[in-house]
Amino acid sequence: MSLLDVHDLKVSFETNDGLLPAVQGVSFALEEGEALGIVGESGSGKSQTVLALMGLLADNGVASGKAEFEGQDLLGLSPARLNRVRGEKISMIFQDPMTSLNPYLTVASQMTEVLTLHKDMTRREARQEAVRMLDAVHIPDASSRLDRYPHEFSGGMRQRVMIAMSLLCRPQILIADEPTTALDVTVQAQILRLLDEIRREFRTAVILITHDLGVVAEVCDRVIVMYGGRVMESGSLHHIFQGSRHPYTRGLLASVPRLDQERGGRLQGIPGAPPSLSRPPTGCPFEARCAYRLDRCTSVPPPLKERDRGHRVACYAELIL
Ligand SMILES: Nc1ncnc2c1ncn2[C@@H]1O[C@H](COP(=O)(O)OP(=O)(O)O)[C@@H](O)[C@H]1O
Ligand SMILES: [Mg+2]
Repeated sequence: MSLLDVHDLKVSFETNDGLLPAVQGVSFALEEGEALGIVGESGSGKSQTVLALMGLLADNGVASGKAEFEGQDLLGLSPARLNRVRGEKISMIFQDPMTSLNPYLTVASQMTEVLTLHKDMTRREARQEAVRMLDAVHIPDASSRLDRYPHEFSGGMRQRVMIAMSLLCRPQILIADEPTTALDVTVQAQILRLLDEIRREFRTAVILITHDLGVVAEVCDRVIVMYGGRVMESGSLHHIFQGSRHPYTRGLLASVPRLDQERGGRLQGIPGAPPSLSRPPTGCPFEARCAYRLDRCTSVPPPLKERDRGHRVACYAELIL
């Protein structure tokens, strides 16, 4: 059994334009200690997929499907139980650490609060553990930095503090949503290395969300490529980087941003824009931008089919090398 088993996850938002289908039946499994990348252009449903699992959708959002974790369905948990899972077993870090750090409290008080609350530690034990975690994420001089406020740290250091905080309860899953997008290239590489190190040291499974396939290649074992709220292709790094059979993945690969280019999330390599959610396409969401389109692509979305052990492709044209 997998650590996390997501089956046919759907997310819709109620809006003045009607019901917007943001995630349209996503399935995947996450194994213990594995690093799974979720890639796709902005708006493809990556964040809403994981927010749904965490019970953190906006008020107008509704999720359906199944997400089994430790014998329970995350989508069916009461807010109180989900809160516990979130505090202790699955933690999440975001692009901007300030969304999760409290600017008015020192790092010490935020970190020790987590531990006294969830781990029943005394303040002294909690402080020691906090220092240990800051050391683990390579914050120099951790015991004196602990008493500083978040704004006294640089962007990269703040992201390290965030990662240290998210690890305090030794979660089984760490979800990182575009954790390096706001950072400059050198710091980005350091944070990615850190995530990889943490996975090995703490045996934490990582779900890394990014619009950048280059980032995925650095840390992940397996990749899910999303577009228009659906999974287009999934497989090992080798399947995706050497043996991709989906036109969208190929387009992404052709436009992996170079390090000296501005990062934005819009693809250079594939002309056109993602479909509008208020008038979602009836067939494959990528059909309008696809150079390999067949007649049936416009009528029914291609099912995600296994083509090789662990390599799944949702495409009627299905490119062969
Ligand atoms: N509260 C909301 N109400 C309506 N639409 C939303 C809401 N939150 C997100 N969406 C839409 O859901 C789609 C998927 O968003 P998201 O998962 O955040 O994309 P990304 O792949 O960039 O993380 C987007 O089109 C976004 O505009
Ligand atoms: Mg997002």
